[in-house]
Amino acid sequence: MSERMKKKIFILAIESSCDETSAAVLYDKRVLSNVIADQKVHGKYGGVVPELASRAHQANIVPVVAEALSIAGITLNDLSAIAFTQGPGLMGSLLVGTSFAKSVSLAMNIPLIAVNHMEGHVLAHLIENNDRSFPSFPFLCLTVSGGHTQIVRVDDAYTMNILGETRDDAAGEAFDKAAKLLGLPYPGGPQIDRLAKLGDSIRFRFSVPHLDGIAYSFSGLKTSLLYFLKEQLMSDRDFIEKNKADICASYQHTIVTYLLKIFEKAARESGITDLALAGGVSANSSLRMGLKELCDRNGWHPFIPDFEYCTDNAAMIGIAAWYKFQESKFADLSFTPKARMGMG
Ligand code: KG4
Ligand code: ZN
Repeated sequence: MSERMKKKIFILAIESSCDETSAAVLYDKRVLSNVIADQKVHGKYGGVVPELASRAHQANIVPVVAEALSIAGITLNDLSAIAFTQGPGLMGSLLVGTSFAKSVSLAMNIPLIAVNHMEGHVLAHLIENNDRSFPSFPFLCLTVSGGHTQIVRVDDAYTMNILGETRDDAAGEAFDKAAKLLGLPYPGGPQIDRLAKLGDSIRFRFSVPHLDGIAYSFSGLKTSLLYFLKEQLMSDRDFIEKNKADICASYQHTIVTYLLKIFEKAARESGITDLALAGGVSANSSLRMGLKELCDRNGWHPFIPDFEYCTDNAAMIGIAAWYKFQESKFADLSFTPKARMGMG
């Protein structure tokens, strides 16, 4: 084991790719703090407004970092490295975290580590908290967020390949756009999840395309809900109010069944039986339950993240950075954010 491996390390990680400003401190692979400031400002617009997001990151970043350090009981002087989300995400938002991390690296003379946000979501499964069990390599991860829906084969912490992904909208977008049509606030996923618990999941039927290979498409689903609502509202203008729970339950059932059907196909084709969820939509109660049932039926192993690590958070950036630290995969001050970024 190298000297670097033996030394305990503290990493401060910053996540600012979309509308959550988050800072976390990790002591090796354990999370000491994970502070998340979400931006309520977007609620009334039905989606994230990029300009408002970057301004809110500017206002939040210093207090969020101060709180993360204080909860962890350390100061900037104790840090071994500083990590930031390089992409993918909103450029104005990414710039705030990137510039902040560069400044700390320069001022404290510590290594800078650039992390891919999507790899962070996956690697959140390797955080050492409580006595959770870890997926064994190789495992498959269904990463479902507001911007992505992909099935990733994870061979080790540095080697990930996307087996298949959505051709258009992400699953989170399908939730958020439906919520908007139903008059629910942004983000719509948690609202639909909450109402779905009160409704009948097989009362209404919505269609999804079944594509060749490992692939998803969600844009038609939102359109099918739009036309369905338009037609129903013509005969009853209170249709949405009277049937909101059943609409939410049926729509959510369609998304979850679709997600798991293709995930199951990927597991069968690859022969990989450790199956993990990641990303904001992995907070969905029906998806969490559905993966457990799928794995129970087949003797496979489900890995469901703690709620804290489903939606965007800096702890997941910290764990990805820990692995990069082990291999001295450091960034330099010329690293710039990337709105689009591949994996691996
Ligand atoms: O990973 P995330 O926080 O941000 C991105 O990287 O996009 O994911 C946000 C997405 C939003 O679309 C939100 O509606 C969805 O995750 N989401 C949910 C739930 N909680 C958050 N979708 C369905 N059910 C939930 N409980
Ligand atoms: Zn995310």
